[in-house]
Amino acid sequence: MIKAVRGTRDLLPPDTELWNFVEHTVREVFARYNYREIRTPIFESTELFSRSVGEETDIVSKEMFTWEDKARAASEKTQTLTLRPENTAGVVRAYIEHELGRSGLLQKLYYIGPQFRRERPQKGRYRQFFQIGAEVLGPTTAGSELPIRDAEVLDMLTALLDAVGLTGWTLYLNSVGCAKCRPAYNQALRDALENVKDQMCGDCQRRSETNPLRVLDCKVPEDQPIIEGLPKIADYLDEGCREHFAQVRAILDTLGIPYQVNERMVRGLDYYTRTTFEFTHGKLGSQSAVLGGGRYDGLSEQLDGPKAPGIGFAIGEDRLVLALQAQQQQTLAPLKAFVVPLGEGMNRHALKLAKQLRADGVAVDVSDESFRLKKSFETAEKLGATFAIIVGENEVKADAFAVKNLTSGLQTTVSRSELLGHLED
Ligand code: HAM
Repeated sequence: MIKAVRGTRDLLPPDTELWNFVEHTVREVFARYNYREIRTPIFESTELFSRSVGEETDIVSKEMFTWEDKARAASEKTQTLTLRPENTAGVVRAYIEHELGRSGLLQKLYYIGPQFRRERPQKGRYRQFFQIGAEVLGPTTAGSELPIRDAEVLDMLTALLDAVGLTGWTLYLNSVGCAKCRPAYNQALRDALENVKDQMCGDCQRRSETNPLRVLDCKVPEDQPIIEGLPKIADYLDEGCREHFAQVRAILDTLGIPYQVNERMVRGLDYYTRTTFEFTHGKLGSQSAVLGGGRYDGLSEQLDGPKAPGIGFAIGEDRLVLALQAQQQQTLAPLKAFVVPLGEGMNRHALKLAKQLRADGVAVDVSDESFRLKKSFETAEKLGATFAIIVGENEVKADAFAVKNLTSGLQTTVSRSELLGHLED
């Protein structure tokens, strides 16, 4: 039997209904914030990712699906190509290639689509996964650098999570500084690592030389106490970054958006400057980040484009759907009663009783009068109902029903007015 490749999966009904609901809601909410869709290719030249996400990140150094695309004609060159591990680099490449900044307006773009990372698969972590992302970028004259943009992006995210019904998330916020203040922080990290790096893993030893910020991404348990003791970026922010961060927080406070500052959060991609953020959800276990994002003020120039500060995020759609499913299971009322019409003409009486109980908030299902009693009891058990309520001619006359507790097997007669109390005891 040929099976789906490790780390990939089929999305089947009824789950696809929830995926469609999420995507439909995304399009509706993002349109309200004046975002429009962009679709970029699923593979790009490898260089795009190594120059933006960064050579020393886990994504570029370990997780990309990369191949040599051999020249097929004398006019073609052999190229190294990569399945996109994320979509920000592709959007910025498209912004530069199509000169989207020429209008002088902010570009507010969103995407929904698959991304690929060769990570160790587990619940919430796949090799093909889906991201819902948005980017707002443009010339500085359009206000692309200003804190209002950061706050608006976070406001849109909370509006979206509300609209899909996700509760219980936490927003973590940090500032990772800019090209001006980062060198001093990198130097402080290097100095601090000098004496301790020999006790750390191979990746950390190398990164302490090449890109010390990436030491903070290390997941090796033995290295964590050392990492805890390293200098914090917050202590190295320059005046501009400090002020920018303070303004973002002040707008969030005005909007009533709750957040926690997490000074250890640097995010695993090199292009970030200033504001970074993550939303986590308690129901997701170890892969708790539902989404992540931040500002990337120098990225366009790094890719040979014009100055085009920007900020964006990507939601892990697989994780958002998992969190919604976990929540639904908790909130879905288990079936309380199975109403069993017994004898001809009893369907309508059974349905009337079910209607009354449902109006009182009780989860009820109904069989039909062609079922024998035995079949009705069997169905009730398969459905996981706690009670079976029999509606026969005598019951209707007496306005009292035979109620069988399917767990204990006990059967009693209960009047209509006392039924609700009986079921809820
Ligand atoms: P990221 O933090 O690498 O950021 O990914 C964003 C989200 O994608 C994560 O929070 C997670 O929910 C989901 N995700 C990542 N890897 C996997 C995986 N293997 N399986 C399932 N879900 C996964 C970015 O990708 C940036 N491009 C976000 C951004 C946009 N920053 C600015 N603009």
